[in-house]
Amino acid sequence: MLNLGILISGRGSNMESILKSIKRKKIPINPAIVISNKQDARGLEIARKLGIKTEVIESKDFKGSRWEYDKKIISVLEKHGVTPKNGLVCLAGFMRIISPEFVKKYKNRIINIHPALLPAFPGLDAQKQAIEYGSKYSGCTVHFVDSGVDTGPIILQSVVKIKKGDTEKTLSKRILAKEHQAYPEAIRLFAEKKIKISGRKTIID
Ligand code: GAR
Repeated sequence: MLNLGILISGRGSNMESILKSIKRKKIPINPAIVISNKQDARGLEIARKLGIKTEVIESKDFKGSRWEYDKKIISVLEKHGVTPKNGLVCLAGFMRIISPEFVKKYKNRIINIHPALLPAFPGLDAQKQAIEYGSKYSGCTVHFVDSGVDTGPIILQSVVKIKKGDTEKTLSKRILAKEHQAYPEAIRLFAEKKIKISGRKTIID
């Protein structure tokens, strides 16, 4: 079976929803390892309680290059069977840009979730960006990771209406509820081999 590695940096609510959905919906993928770049990520405890193996590769005082750091991640992924041939890597609130070498090695096997309707509002504080821009709608996007920031082929998007008086906090909460549905669904499609990539587009069966 396909092995899943989830990379987190903090709260881990997307990770939790992925892990619970895999069990509940019998998605054909083995949740092999959760890796955090921060020792104090709250998601680590959640993963452990769900019986999933965890590792921390602290990035704070790491002196080497981005690729040198990513090689440490890759060696842990491979140790748990999350290989470029038989693995899927999900970035779930992993607040680091990954190196082009990592992306190339795991070509079309790294997925990310972003709290906006890409290509609008990539990067940090996407919900705040949408409110300040005056958008009427935002949402979330699950996409393959390429060497740009939030630029890879889109798998799924889910729309949220921005209400009068919304703050970053209220909008983020409604987007997060959609994220928790969209991310496990994208993983199911991947695990069931229902996603084809054609150029920068995906075709869903
Ligand atoms: C989520 O809203 C996710 O979309 C966002 O960080 C949050 C992580 O929450 N990711 C990004 O902004 C990536 N550019 P979580 O740790 O509770 O899943």
